[in-house]
Amino acid sequence: MFDTRLDIDIQQPDAASAEALMPQLVALLQDAVESGASLGFWRPLDAHHAQLYWQQVIAEIERGERLLLVALRDGAVLGSVQLALPQKQNALRRAEIQKLMVQRSARRQGIGQALMRAIEQLAQQEKRTTLILDTSQGSDAERLYRAIGYQLAGIIPHYTIEADGSELATVMFYKSLNSEQ
Ligand SMILES: CC(C)(COP(=O)(O)OP(=O)(O)OC[C@H]1O[C@@H](n2cnc3c(N)ncnc32)[C@H](O)[C@@H]1OP(=O)(O)O)[C@@H](O)C(=O)NCCC(=O)NCCS
Repeated sequence: MFDTRLDIDIQQPDAASAEALMPQLVALLQDAVESGASLGFWRPLDAHHAQLYWQQVIAEIERGERLLLVALRDGAVLGSVQLALPQKQNALRRAEIQKLMVQRSARRQGIGQALMRAIEQLAQQEKRTTLILDTSQGSDAERLYRAIGYQLAGIIPHYTIEADGSELATVMFYKSLNSEQ
């Protein structure tokens, strides 16, 4: 899907295409962690551990348990987002949006929002109409999710531990894509 206004192409790589993008995905994750984002890692994140992370993602794409979207400009990966697809029988209507990230040099252009729009369309196609996500309280991501209509489910204090020993709360959101829900 090409966004002419932002001059970005949003693609859904399969496992092989994601493998081909590995160096760029590693760099994207390292940049996001370096920016202080709470993505499960402390900074600095070395390339080896970033690669191990993406290999797990690719294995889940292969098993049909996860979808990945990347935003590209002139072939360069500027951002990505994932949709985790729970496989339990009674969970087939929901999905979790994870690891939205945009390279620092490309932020505040609307790429994060474009990725969220695209992942919501994908979720709708997959009939996953209840979306959940969480993010650190006070983060840029929290502002983005509120701005695009995510509903507050609750705040959990002491959720993550930072490298300096401090603890951060997480904000849990949901959005129903099905207007009857
Ligand atoms: C969160 C993140 C993906 C946003 O990406 P982005 O491309 O800069 O977001 P957008 O340009 O689409 O911003 C959309 C809206 O979100 C809000 N927003 C995003 N960043 C903001 C900031 N730094 N300050 C205030 N509002 C912000 C604004 O409402 C913005 O709209 P506006 O620019 O018209 O005011 C990016 O900051 C990032 O990669 N952060 C690190 C990773 C992370 O924390 N991910 C969340 C994991 S749950």
